[in-house]
Amino acid sequence: MRGHVPTPDRLADKMVEKLFRDNPPEDGERILYPGCGRGPFISAVHRYCDSNDFPVPEGVAVEIDPELYEDARKRHKDKEVEFLERDFLTDSDGLDKFEYVLGNPPYIPIEGLEEDEKGRYRREFETAEGRFDLYVLFFEQAIDLLSSGGRLCFVTPEKFEYTETTAALRRVLASSGVEEIHHVDEDSFEGLVTYPTVTVIDADGRNETRVVGRDGEVRDVDLPDDGSSWAAAVRGGEPDIETGVTLGDVCRRISCGVATGADKVFVMDREEAPPQLDDWTYPTTSGKQLRINDGPESGQVFVCPYDADGRLPSRDELGDFGDWASLYRERLEDRSCYEKGKQVWYGWHENPPMDDILQRKLLCKDVTEEPHFWRDDSGEVVPRHSVYYLIPEEGVDIEELQEYLNSGDAQAWLEANCQRAANGFLRLQSTVMKQLPVPEQFGHHRQSTLTAETG
Ligand SMILES: C[S@@+](CC[C@H](N)C(=O)[O-])C[C@H]1O[C@@H](n2cnc3c(N)ncnc32)[C@H](O)[C@@H]1O
Repeated sequence: MRGHVPTPDRLADKMVEKLFRDNPPEDGERILYPGCGRGPFISAVHRYCDSNDFPVPEGVAVEIDPELYEDARKRHKDKEVEFLERDFLTDSDGLDKFEYVLGNPPYIPIEGLEEDEKGRYRREFETAEGRFDLYVLFFEQAIDLLSSGGRLCFVTPEKFEYTETTAALRRVLASSGVEEIHHVDEDSFEGLVTYPTVTVIDADGRNETRVVGRDGEVRDVDLPDDGSSWAAAVRGGEPDIETGVTLGDVCRRISCGVATGADKVFVMDREEAPPQLDDWTYPTTSGKQLRINDGPESGQVFVCPYDADGRLPSRDELGDFGDWASLYRERLEDRSCYEKGKQVWYGWHENPPMDDILQRKLLCKDVTEEPHFWRDDSGEVVPRHSVYYLIPEEGVDIEELQEYLNSGDAQAWLEANCQRAANGFLRLQSTVMKQLPVPEQFGHHRQSTLTAETG
C-alpha cells in the first residue's frame, strides 16, 4: 500500500465543513476523491449532507491499490460514487471537471519512486521539481480537474509552504486561489504526519488567505505568488518561539567552511585527484553544490595539507603532497591572503579546526533564497567557504535538530532576522544563527551534562 495513511473521521468531518462552508452542494454537482483509500471522506460527505439536508454530490473515487479499492467499493456500495481502480497521476481519462475535490494525498518522497516514474513525472508535472513528493503532484493534478469557481480541500504536511522544491507548487496554488491554510493539531494523525495542514483552494483566483494557527489564532494574509517561501506570511513575520534556548547553546560550533584562497588548486573532481594524494583528500562541497545536489555529495574532493588535528605538517613531513604542491608553489605564493615570512606557502589563510570539521554535522548555504540544512553523516566532508557547518553538542539529536531547522518556525525566524544580500537572498551569518531560538527539548542535553558533572 503506497503512502496509505487513513484520515480519522473527526478530521474528515472538519474538512468537509470547510469544503462546503458558504458553498453548499447543489443538485448535479460532482466531487472527486483522489487516492480515496477505504473512503473516509465519502462517509464524511454523506454524514454532512444528510444532517444538513443537502443533496450529495455525485462522487468519483480513484484508488491505485487493488485491496483498498475493493474494500472502499464494498463499504460504500449503496452510495452515489463511481469507483475507479487506477493511477490518478497518469490516467485522468474521462474524469472531466469537478466542483469539489477532497482528499488526503499520499506522502511518498522521491526515494520511494522507481526511476522511470520519476522521469515521467518530471516530464508531465510542472511541480515535479528537485526532490518532490507525490502529494505535490496530487495537488497539481487535482487543481487541473477543478472547475472554475470549484473548491478543493486537502490535508498534507505543511512543508510545501516553505521548501525550495515546492516553489512551483506555491505558484500553482497561489494562482488558483488559496482560501485557507489551517495548521491542525499535531496529533491529528497520532503522530503519523508531521505538522498536518489543511489547505482549501477556491478556484476563483482570490487574493486573501485565512490562516488558522495551531493555537487557534486566525489572520488574513497575502501569500506571495512568485514561488518564494510562505513561511513568514503564514506565521505573521517573526514567530514567537517560547524558549530560553538558542542554537548557539546546543551547537559547539557554527562556522564558515575553509578558505584556501586557491580553490582552483586544492579542489578537483574525485576522478582527477592524483592517486598518491588519497591520504590527503576529503570530499567537499560548495554552497551552490549543496543546493544542486540536495546534499553534500558533490563528486569533488579537497586536497588538504592539514592533519586530522588541524596541524600543518612541516615541508619534510609532506611526502607526496609536498611534491604535488610544489608544482603550484608560484600560484600559491601569489594568493592575496598569503604573506611571505608570516605564512607557509602551502597552508591556508587560517588553520582549519579539522577535529571539529571531521564530525557528523549540518551544512547550509551561506547566501540563499531560502534557508535549508543538510546532514553530513559520514563526518568526512570538508565544507568550502560558501558553506556553514554546525556541530551539535554531545547529546543533541542531529536529525531532530535538522528537522527543526528546516521547519516553518525556524525558516520564518531566519527570514525575519538574517541580513539580505543585494538580490534579496538571505545571508546566514553565524552570529545570527547562534541566536535562533530552539525548542527546550534540545537544551536538555545541558541539563544532563550538568547533572553528570555535579552528580
Ligand atoms: C494518505 S492515503 C489517504 C487515503 C484516504 N484518502 C484516507 O484519507 O484515508 C493516500 C492514498 O492514495 C493512494 N494512492 C497512492 N498513489 C496513488 C496514485 N498514483 N493514484 C491513486 N491512488 C494513489 C494510496 O493507496 C492511499 O490509499
